Amino acid sequence: MSALASLAPRQREFAFSPDDHATVADIAYREVGILLPETKAQLVYGRLAPRVRACGLDSVADYIRLIGTDSSERGRMIDALTTNHTFFFRENHHFEDFNRLLWPELKSRLEVGGRVRLWSAACSTGEEPYTWLMAMFGSDRSGAAKLLAKDFRFLATDVCGTALAAVREGAYPAATVEPVPAPLAKVWLKQHGTGFQVDPMLREALTINALNLLGEWPIRTKFDAIFCRNVMIYFDGPTKARLQTRLADRLETGGLLCIGHSERLDSSVAGQFESVGRTSFRKIA
Ligand SMILES: C[S@@+](CC[C@H](N)C(=O)[O-])C[C@H]1O[C@@H](n2cnc3c(N)ncnc32)[C@H](O)[C@@H]1O
Repeated sequence: MSALASLAPRQREFAFSPDDHATVADIAYREVGILLPETKAQLVYGRLAPRVRACGLDSVADYIRLIGTDSSERGRMIDALTTNHTFFFRENHHFEDFNRLLWPELKSRLEVGGRVRLWSAACSTGEEPYTWLMAMFGSDRSGAAKLLAKDFRFLATDVCGTALAAVREGAYPAATVEPVPAPLAKVWLKQHGTGFQVDPMLREALTINALNLLGEWPIRTKFDAIFCRNVMIYFDGPTKARLQTRLADRLETGGLLCIGHSERLDSSVAGQFESVGRTSFRKIA
């Protein structure tokens, strides 16, 4: 039985047909590359129903008509369809690889006036870039202040506007910051209501921008390290290959590319990299 058929119409608040699903899936694929096969129909309905309700409409078909003319709502639909699951110190081996293979050299470079450029591509709600900053600076706040005053830029991007608002705020419930080791939490997290907020020094270290990995990249710089993790799983093969080619292009020789644990380098770019850890790759050419 298909996912749609298993949702009896009377159980749904809003009408949602297989054609509606196909239309939404087509928009998501064309705009952000996310694959939403019919098996994801229930998920799509669950994500869109609150938007249909908020817009005061009676059906997903009406909502589809609305997003045809309302670009802000179209953006909210894309936001609703993205999966923003992330957590502090996720796949910690990547931060360890960065600290072991690159950070000592980058630190020395900063100290003698050189530049360092890092990019968390698809940063979701910020746990990834903030983990990266905490992991590289450890609990040395004054050392961090000195390095951040140098030619250091850290770009954090995502296509989801609501996720980026969370990165800017840098505030997380207490349960969310549990994976942060106590010595780092003590230095970098401040009590904020019932939760915690990331120290302004780290929040201000980030350049936070909306960026669709499938669209234009208004980026001229090359990066010393790019983390692009757990986003390619939503893309098809050709989209992954195109994205990896572009990421490789934006990396300095010797730069580090970290991808998610279930992601692989496409054969079209694999020759440009050597494997230096679990899903960590160093650009060699
Ligand atoms: C599962 S999260 C991964 C977050 C983080 N990188 C991690 O590994 O924990 C995937 C993120 O990719 C973003 N995303 C999906 N499609 C995108 C696209 N075409 N361009 C940029 N970001 C995209 C989503 O908005 C979401 O925040």
